[in-house]
Amino acid sequence: MNLDTLKKTLLELKAKAITEFKSADSRSDIDDIYRSFLGKKGEVNLLLKSLGSFPQEKRKEAGMLLNELKSDLEEAYLQITVSLSSKANQERLSNEKIDTSLPGFQARKGSVHPVSKTIKEICDFFEKMGFDVESGPEAEIDYYNFEALNVPEDHPAKDMHDTFYLNNAGLLRTHTSPVQIRTMEKRDAPHRIICPGKVYRKDSDLTHTPMFHQIEGLVVEEGASFSQLKGLLNDFLEDFFGEKVELRFRPSYFPFTEPSAEADIRWNKNWLEVLGCGMVHPNVLKGVGVDTKIYSGFAFGLGVERMAMLKYDIPDLRAFFENDIRFLNQF
Ligand code: PHE
Repeated sequence: MNLDTLKKTLLELKAKAITEFKSADSRSDIDDIYRSFLGKKGEVNLLLKSLGSFPQEKRKEAGMLLNELKSDLEEAYLQITVSLSSKANQERLSNEKIDTSLPGFQARKGSVHPVSKTIKEICDFFEKMGFDVESGPEAEIDYYNFEALNVPEDHPAKDMHDTFYLNNAGLLRTHTSPVQIRTMEKRDAPHRIICPGKVYRKDSDLTHTPMFHQIEGLVVEEGASFSQLKGLLNDFLEDFFGEKVELRFRPSYFPFTEPSAEADIRWNKNWLEVLGCGMVHPNVLKGVGVDTKIYSGFAFGLGVERMAMLKYDIPDLRAFFENDIRFLNQF
């Protein structure tokens, strides 16, 4: 081979490589083409091997021409690689384009939970009647949940409460009544307090959940009487339901009240129990240092879910705990 034929061959080779590169449309195509020209067994290397057949004085020039071709092809390879990847980028970007004319995602608005709403309605009424809102811990000790409320050790009333006991001798309060004790320990009589909160009992069926809400009311004043209690509850229930209610007291038993009653209201021709109440037992008042020659007291405890179900006509207790936004949005 002489220099002229070599030049011609190189030109043809270059043209062929560039056409092939241009028609490639994937990274692996390009790499295959690269190898077929510049790889170990590629066409450029084959030509290099043929350099030996050139006369000494032409060999250098032939070598330079081959190197030129080599760098031209490497350059072409680089260019096509870059342009292919920018083409891919472009495609990706145009696919990802945001259509700002599309409607947005609607953020679902929450609402006040019916239990919270009911607690607020009840506390609002009692605050207007001069009651202070008080709270206490949900993890209690036996003393506040039972003993100070006149429920001695081994008293059968303890079994009625289905208590959740904690590892460290504590328990989850079974009612909001311990807040009565905690408040009377903290402050001197007279007292008018209302205490909303969560309570816990080992009880779970269609009409009971292991956690529910109670509201405790306590009045300790000179001359606080059973008839006052009934009058107050009557006013409260009529305010809450926004209509006249028929209220009935039924004799009952709580260790911390004497006498005790359960209050029923007439609901669609039936009597329905809504709360427990009574005159605070002298043992309870004495235990927290209240002078029972001056003061007497009454207390009541009502179930919030029960009240909400009646007022808002909610047929199933479970609806309170499922957090279904369609249910919650009705309030
Ligand atoms: N603590 C009682 C209960 O959970 C209710 C109650 C409160 C009764 C205050 C009387 C006085 O059942």
